[in-house]
Amino acid sequence: MKETTITNTVVLSTGMKGSPGSPFNPEAAEVALRFHRSLPMYEETKLVSLQTAAEELGVKAIHLKDESTRFGLKSFKGLGGSYAVFRILCDKLGLDYRTAVFNDFMTDENREKCSEVIFVTATDGNHGKGVAWASKLFGCKAYVYMPAGSVEARRKAIEDAGAEQAVISDLNYDKVVQYARRQAEEKGWTLIQDTSWEGYEKIPHWIVEGYLTMGVEICEQLDGDVPTHVFLQAGVGAMAGGILGYLSNIFAAKEPVFTIVEPMTVACLYESAKAGDGSIRSISGDPVTIMAGLNCGTPCGITWKTIRDRASFYCACTDEVSENAMRELARFPNEKERVVAGECGAVTYGVLKEIMKDDSLKREMGINEDSIILLISTEGDTDPKGYDRILSK
Ligand SMILES: Cc1ncc(COP(=O)(O)O)c(C=O)c1O
Repeated sequence: MKETTITNTVVLSTGMKGSPGSPFNPEAAEVALRFHRSLPMYEETKLVSLQTAAEELGVKAIHLKDESTRFGLKSFKGLGGSYAVFRILCDKLGLDYRTAVFNDFMTDENREKCSEVIFVTATDGNHGKGVAWASKLFGCKAYVYMPAGSVEARRKAIEDAGAEQAVISDLNYDKVVQYARRQAEEKGWTLIQDTSWEGYEKIPHWIVEGYLTMGVEICEQLDGDVPTHVFLQAGVGAMAGGILGYLSNIFAAKEPVFTIVEPMTVACLYESAKAGDGSIRSISGDPVTIMAGLNCGTPCGITWKTIRDRASFYCACTDEVSENAMRELARFPNEKERVVAGECGAVTYGVLKEIMKDDSLKREMGINEDSIILLISTEGDTDPKGYDRILSK
């Protein structure tokens, strides 16, 4: 285990040590993709080739999956929310999830049954918007709770997407999750949370499987290119663990080097890996970061094992790293390479740039002129005013 400090970023190298394989496999991904494709507004998001940046940094290619256009929700999160809503409703209505499609829910009888279902969730923005949107789509209701400090624009976007009500609480993220959990218990609502704990694993597992649609699309769009390095940003690590697990299964013969990226103030996966005993660690208090979607203090239990066993590096960076990357991604000279990347979306590109300034770290991570880097810009301008403020700095 080795820790390296570079400007604005710390990098922990653990050397990946666990056994291969992950439950987030191609079979699960195909079922999720089949469902998503049955949605009327499904469209694949773009995989952008950042050629200018690849040349400047001296690597073979940088591929960036741009999730800013997903379902009109500006982030990837609707993939997980909608798939979990689908699986829950399949169970309630007695439909086979392997063959059911969205239209099966549109009969009068099924609409009636769906209208009785009430979901509740906690969110720092994007997950709640995805759940609100999916609930409305299926004719259900959703109540959404947000942590203190959440931006009003994100709250309003959740109600606009279809929530009965979205409320900004005075609690931090971990506490607002527990609040939503109590609401579900007291009112008989269904909790649809994108993180897991003992006894609450089935629904988060479905949410992670929903994210795998991104993985299948990426592999098709790579068109034969095999990534050597994959950087994944993490809040609780549900998305990172799912995608990492999927890619490690797909590219088992030549596994990429996986790096997890978090904000410096709330790097719970970094701290869990650093503890070195295989168990998760939490960050307490009220951490502050502009990367709202990554402001989560406790790792997701069901994906932690995959991350622990397959990720080789963990990076924790300052907000500045993300801000710089947001500006750069928006302004590439070639229009085709420009991406509207929000605070959480841009951060992996920012960290890659920091790493490329340090020769010994580059060597340690094995990044060179043959490297094919894969990044996911997980959100667009989900807080438009904040995005404009950062771009105009
Ligand atoms: C835009 C964005 N990117 C990344 C993440 C991180 O996902 P996870 O919490 O599964 O690690 C989130 C979580 O809300 C998010 O909203």
